[in-house]
Amino acid sequence: MNLRKAIEKRRSIRAFSQKEIPEKILRFCIDQARFAPSAMNKQPLEYIIVNDRKREQIFNNIVFGGQVNNKEKKPTAYIIVLSNSNINQNPDYDVGLAVQNIVLTAFSQKMGTCILGSINQKAIRSLLNIPFNFEIKLVIALGYPAEKSITQEVESSFEYYRKNNILVVPKRKLKNIIHFNSYEE
Ligand SMILES: Cc1cc2nc3c(=O)[nH]c(=O)nc-3n(C[C@H](O)[C@H](O)[C@H](O)COP(=O)(O)O)c2cc1C
Repeated sequence: MNLRKAIEKRRSIRAFSQKEIPEKILRFCIDQARFAPSAMNKQPLEYIIVNDRKREQIFNNIVFGGQVNNKEKKPTAYIIVLSNSNINQNPDYDVGLAVQNIVLTAFSQKMGTCILGSINQKAIRSLLNIPFNFEIKLVIALGYPAEKSITQEVESSFEYYRKNNILVVPKRKLKNIIHFNSYEE
């Protein structure tokens, strides 16, 4: 898959078919995360893949946005993104870059993903025995998509919505975010 297609067509997916994801695809996603840029090349990030029965408890400790009713279409795996605070206490740029590698890789393998920041940190830490020197930065839900999502260029509202059962995700127009040589026109 070419890069342009991956960047433009990847959408957050919140409803999944119940077909299992092969472990080698999950490993491949983490392997691609390794190649992301890392400040001072400190590489503080580690990942827990959850694809056993614990995924039920992960589902109960995350919040999917928007009018989404996916109780019958739950993710079949999760990647928990951890950062070792003994290595870097400001890892958020590293996290964003690595997570983008993961979601684009997953998309190239026909997977849907949703990055989740609304998570119950305490419950997930306890469930997965995560040591206290690791911060839980994000959770990525994965599975084969059972919904369609498209983008739409907008000027005003950025709230995503459903139309004819398709998720529509407003994106700002290029002309509204680009500046050459000065902020003022
Ligand atoms: C840091 C971060 C946290 C997010 N947290 C959530 C979340 O808790 N729940 C959710 O349903 N979506 C979450 N999202 C997904 C966004 O809602 C989604 O990226 C946005 O609506 C744009 O849609 P797109 O990914 O299809 O382009 C998160 C995305 C990012 C980057």
